[in-house]
Amino acid sequence: MSFERKVCVENTAENAVDLAAELVKITICESLGLRSGCCVALSGGSTPQRLYQRLAQTSTGEDVPWGATEIFFGDERDVSLDDVASNYRMAQRTLLDHLPIEPQRIHPIRGDADDLDAAATEYEKLIRQIVPIGPGNIPRFDLILLGMGSDGHTASLFPGSAAVNEVHKLVVAHNVPVVGRRRITFTLPLINAARNVILFVTGDDKADAVAALLSDDPAQRQRFPVACVQPTDGLLTMVFDTAAARRIKT
Ligand code: 6PG
Repeated sequence: MSFERKVCVENTAENAVDLAAELVKITICESLGLRSGCCVALSGGSTPQRLYQRLAQTSTGEDVPWGATEIFFGDERDVSLDDVASNYRMAQRTLLDHLPIEPQRIHPIRGDADDLDAAATEYEKLIRQIVPIGPGNIPRFDLILLGMGSDGHTASLFPGSAAVNEVHKLVVAHNVPVVGRRRITFTLPLINAARNVILFVTGDDKADAVAALLSDDPAQRQRFPVACVQPTDGLLTMVFDTAAARRIKT
């Protein structure tokens, strides 16, 4: 394994939320120490909601220079931005509405576009305009937050989907049979170009996937797209609660 990885296990989901929130704040502050801006991609689903609420409760414009951050989304569903299933809507209500970030620094994916392929292409262009380009001519996020499904998917990179093997495009739209809908998602080249990735996973239902992810057996790991998250020149920090980590072989 040639990338840097840290694994943190907290006793409770609440403690895992606290740790993840502190790591997000530290990462943003450190990034702004390096340069004048900070580009962050948020994850969706249900797990990060408590994390976003905690960030909204515990960080203000003074301790975390949110006003200098650019907010993106690692994936989105094929719904309107005000749909209850929208990752943007979830992040807006739990976090972004409570932070001193100008609207023009918040960049939702247009999951409601008639042409999702064009929307994915446009989002990649936007990322290239705003996020500093790193090695390999790939934009380098300061922080990408990721979750994981019980099937080992992350962002909207699901087992068996061609998007997992995409090596040229940085953002793609694709059909996801297991959810019966289309999704727009970051691809692994973009994720693995990040300076920092935080994988935040809690809950008993994720225990098998977490154990496989951390397995010494490549055959176990390779079943899950999340195992392909290996930041080339960055740090992957995994934050679990004991429920999600209960099957890790120590
Ligand atoms: C999404 C997320 C996805 C999520 C996992 C876990 O759009 O659903 O981006 O990758 O992190 O599906 O979802 P839960 O946190 O709801 O279990």
